[in-house]
Amino acid sequence: MKGIILHGGHGTRLKPLTHTGPKQLLPIGNKAMSQYALEDLKTAGITEIGIIIGDVFPEKVKEYYGDGSKFGVKLSYIYQDAPKGIAHAVKLCKKFIGNEKFIVYLGDNVLRKNLIEYTKKFKISESDAMVLLCEVEEPERFGIAELDKGNSNKIKKILEKPKNHPSNLAVIGIYFLTPKIFDIIDNLKPSWRNEFEITDALDMLIKNGDSVEYDIITGWWKDTGTPEDIIHANKLILDSIGTQDQFLINVDSKIKDQIIIGKNTSISPESIIIGPVIIGDNCIIDSTKIGPYASIGDNCIIKKCKIESSIVMSDCKINTEIEIQDSIIANGSEIESMKVQKKCQFLIGERTHIKI
Ligand code: TTP
Repeated sequence: MKGIILHGGHGTRLKPLTHTGPKQLLPIGNKAMSQYALEDLKTAGITEIGIIIGDVFPEKVKEYYGDGSKFGVKLSYIYQDAPKGIAHAVKLCKKFIGNEKFIVYLGDNVLRKNLIEYTKKFKISESDAMVLLCEVEEPERFGIAELDKGNSNKIKKILEKPKNHPSNLAVIGIYFLTPKIFDIIDNLKPSWRNEFEITDALDMLIKNGDSVEYDIITGWWKDTGTPEDIIHANKLILDSIGTQDQFLINVDSKIKDQIIIGKNTSISPESIIIGPVIIGDNCIIDSTKIGPYASIGDNCIIKKCKIESSIVMSDCKINTEIEIQDSIIANGSEIESMKVQKKCQFLIGERTHIKI
């Protein structure tokens, strides 16, 4: 089986963070969000992976992942000239996939449980596709599956953001497919938002009499389309520190009491770190309170402030007495202040300098 990671799209909801790179490279728990997809595929034994790159700084994706050898996989890049939909992106992979079954993983989806069991199941399955479903609280915000009551494990229909929902089971952004989907996509019409939708392709498979199987996932799943989603995903990822499901970290990092500290990072005795927290390499943390739920990237200098429930990316400087909460501060930004401030919330793009 081969894997596809979708790394295109507009990323409109994440501006200004996506002015300088694709959203899937934004860090969650100090790791690019699409790296979780890559590691999930690798753990499931899939090492031949195609990455769909779009028109939002595609060279940054190539720079980060290279040929894949650093991550133990073999990567190919497939260019999508414009974000014409997930089904459009899938169609571009026809030659790369050949006659094999494959998994499409949206690069902005993060899943706690790995894909090993689902992959094994689909390898031996007779079905033409398999989707993973997750119970959600607001079904009207998702693509929702109507299950086939007379046919266990099969889907009858997928409804996009339904008002009257037949279940509260959302179709998540990991699709197990066979090359049969390519002919279906060839006959697909664009949706009202002018995109070739993967849910329409799956629905067409079902209408053709082909079978679409499902499995219901356990554990959490997060689609990280908005800043709030990213801050929430960061919490979920950091919560796994010290558990059996802990995500992979740099070999040189130290870990204790749900706190991960990178190499050459110094923390002054006046500082307080409350886990779960991850701090990268070469940071200076002085008279600062960090945590809970903060991810601090490499080479940051942070003095005198409080940071909670936030992501501070690499090469940032913060030297002020403010309390930073529920914030995302992108690479190379600087915050300084002349006078004491109270709680602040930031969503700032790369290399921003704020003087309060
Ligand atoms: P979306 O989050 O639906 O779309 P988007 O990335 O354009 O974001 P926004 O709505 O904020 O503008 O995309 C889901 C995933 O699929 C995401 O990882 C991007 C990827 N994608 C592509 O690779 N190609 C495409 O044509 C589209 C529409 C999405």
